[in-house]
Amino acid sequence: MGRYLINGGKKISGTLKINGSKNSVLPILAASILNSGQSVIHNCPDIYDTHTALKILKHVGCKVKFENHTAIIDSSTINSYEVDPDLVKEMRSSIIFLGSILSVMKRVSISYPGGCELGKRPIDFHLAALKKLGAQIIEDGDKIICSAENLKGCKIKLKFPSVGATQNIILASVFARGSTKIINAAREPEIIDLQNFLKKMGADINGAGTSQIVINGVEKLSNVEHKVIPDRIVAATFLISAAITKGQIEIENVITNHLPLINFLQTGCYIKLSKNKIYLKAKEFIRPIKNLQTMPYPYFPTDLQAQFVSLLSLASGRSIVKENVFESRNKHIPELIKMGAKIKILPDNTTFIIDGVKRLNGAYLISKDLRGGAALILAALAAYGKTIIQDENHILRGYEKIEEKLKSLGADIKYEQ
Ligand code: EPZ
Repeated sequence: MGRYLINGGKKISGTLKINGSKNSVLPILAASILNSGQSVIHNCPDIYDTHTALKILKHVGCKVKFENHTAIIDSSTINSYEVDPDLVKEMRSSIIFLGSILSVMKRVSISYPGGCELGKRPIDFHLAALKKLGAQIIEDGDKIICSAENLKGCKIKLKFPSVGATQNIILASVFARGSTKIINAAREPEIIDLQNFLKKMGADINGAGTSQIVINGVEKLSNVEHKVIPDRIVAATFLISAAITKGQIEIENVITNHLPLINFLQTGCYIKLSKNKIYLKAKEFIRPIKNLQTMPYPYFPTDLQAQFVSLLSLASGRSIVKENVFESRNKHIPELIKMGAKIKILPDNTTFIIDGVKRLNGAYLISKDLRGGAALILAALAAYGKTIIQDENHILRGYEKIEEKLKSLGADIKYEQ
């Protein structure tokens, strides 16, 4: 358990390089099992989740090395198909190892990741797809054991463009006999990055970024070297740090069209784009957004909902935010209310009515999840007085040295273990 100590009221100002994407490196690390050889992966974010994924790889027998944001995996020594249950508890997105371990070991045993602060987080889409590909699935208590001598390509239509399910289907299909077609696939940039990684290994996969992805099974995959794309959610979080403190920021090594810039413009910020850079300057007033809906990519991302709620808490009017992806991504709101925010959660638990206030006041807060925790830091930067945020390592899972980076941009922030 650690805590962030923030004295608000300082304008964010300066430039920042953005690190690699958490939601891209995790499926890519899972995919490094597939070539039973070496993967050199650059621009890995140095965050808890990266290290948890490396521990999972080590636990199944791979050799792993990590230094200076580069991970080197040798998966030729893999000797187990069991994902360490303690690590699944630490990181529910460990489910992304299902497809790749099954592909190589013909079996995989993993405990149910279970729900979290955002909602129940079922994995029914993942399991239904693996069954369609020919896997036998035994559920034994909270353990799932999948086995398949030969996976056979087929057409899989997803009820919802689930990011994780799309990734697991891809990883389970690379060696499957024949062709697999995913319909209603997730279109996130992290899926494109995974496809690029796999193509470099020699996989036959096309369509990532669209709703239809086709994977034709191959026999073998080769060694690979790859650079992970920048983290669009971290980039947007830092843009909001400047917007909420009426400051200005230039972020570098970003892929500009990965961010929902239209929504920043709706709040009245000035935005200037240049090659892989975004400059944002806040205006005197933050404009409210009458109807902000979270949706799968390429629409406004659920992973920025909490951070935008913090920003809109200080807008000059009423905003309505609707969370359409997770059923209870709202644990940041009671904490913001402690700071003086005027937010009402409707009985559906996913509609938030935000009446902007002139000021927020520092308070003692508890962060409940990764992006909610980041949202509390953003609100504290703008608040009058001191805020303490108790955080059970949620923020460290997805933000690399956030307090050092914010300090370098003018914030008065400290982190204590
Ligand atoms: C990925 O989670 C991201 N995590 C999440 O980021 C992100 O919020 C989410 O995609 C949506 O963009 C990683 O990439 C590691 P989903 P994932 O499957 O794959 C339901 C962060 O803060 N669903 O697209 O788990 C599910 O309950 C994290 O970085 C089923 O019903 O998300 C949710 O309501 C948080 N059955 C919706 O679909 C299933 O089998 C979207 O989930 C799978 C999902």
